[in-house]
Amino acid sequence: MNALEWQGDSLKIIDQTKLPLFLSYIVCSDYERIVQAIRRLEVRGAPAIGACAAFALVLAARKNACLPKPDFLNALRAAKVEIAGARPTAVNLFWALERVWRRAADNENDVAKTADAMEAEAVAIFNEDIAANKKIGEYGAAVLPEKCAVLTHCNAGALATCGWGTALGVIRAAFSQGKITMVYADETRPLLQGARITAWELVEDNIPVTLVTDSTAGWVMKKDLAQVIITGADRIALNGDTANKIGTFTLAVLAKRHNIPFYIAAPVSTIDFSIKTGEEIPIEERAAEEVRSVLGASVAPETVKVFNPAFDVTPNELISAIITEKGLLYPPYEGKISSLKE
Ligand code: MRU
Repeated sequence: MNALEWQGDSLKIIDQTKLPLFLSYIVCSDYERIVQAIRRLEVRGAPAIGACAAFALVLAARKNACLPKPDFLNALRAAKVEIAGARPTAVNLFWALERVWRRAADNENDVAKTADAMEAEAVAIFNEDIAANKKIGEYGAAVLPEKCAVLTHCNAGALATCGWGTALGVIRAAFSQGKITMVYADETRPLLQGARITAWELVEDNIPVTLVTDSTAGWVMKKDLAQVIITGADRIALNGDTANKIGTFTLAVLAKRHNIPFYIAAPVSTIDFSIKTGEEIPIEERAAEEVRSVLGASVAPETVKVFNPAFDVTPNELISAIITEKGLLYPPYEGKISSLKE
């Protein structure tokens, strides 16, 4: 199950807004369609949108490969600004764009060769993400108890990444070792990534899953139904403060109250080495309509005011460990996170 498939001259993505009712695909043959797909959440999840941004810049390069290098770079600069504006919180998007941009801006004057190098970089980002997820899965599974039920939020699975998943990567690896008795999936309002995508991925993989409303999570912990919480991340600051899907902070507070380990699983590409704390993380606010309705059906007065942040920030002191492809980081995070910068 792959969210993305690079086809050489286009990017094929699963339309995640249609899941689980329809497994349908969108073929993006220009960068503008990828930007639209990221904005609409047809493709979502921090590592997946990072890879999409990388391939978007490659498509922009192919489109402008007839221009002399200075004009080519000007056209790419404009495309890069547009791609960077697709979503603000997941740092993977900016990280991947910069990696591919560096290939564009190197000393090669042959534009076709430059575009080839950019494509190779985007493909490397894609492959490295799958390898990172596998490592995260191994490291994470190793610290889980012999038998446990896990609660997760949103979707940090194969569809949120280039394959396998971060939080779900840990769950997949631990399940294959016989450690997982149950996964509790929060439905994750407003857009129901937990119900629509996490539950679907786990059902497809025959991993036992129980869907709960977001407001049931505290009771799940109180009743000792889940012994571990694992979520993904969209941006991690140098002190360990972590942005993830709205509701993650609430889970971390509840986990502390019930003495349950709360893990963040994320690749190093999700660390923002330029920011000291979570205060500096830009939080996306999305349309009011997402809250006033459920799957297109209105559930609130049409004119009611809405507050719809897509993410919240969990302070580092609530995070038991951050599971990366380089191993587990335990608090205090200062110094340990910055040492991961290559
Ligand atoms: O708004 P979304 O669906 O893009 O939010 C996704 C999340 O919050 C994920 O937990 C995060 O990106 C990690 S994906 C491995």
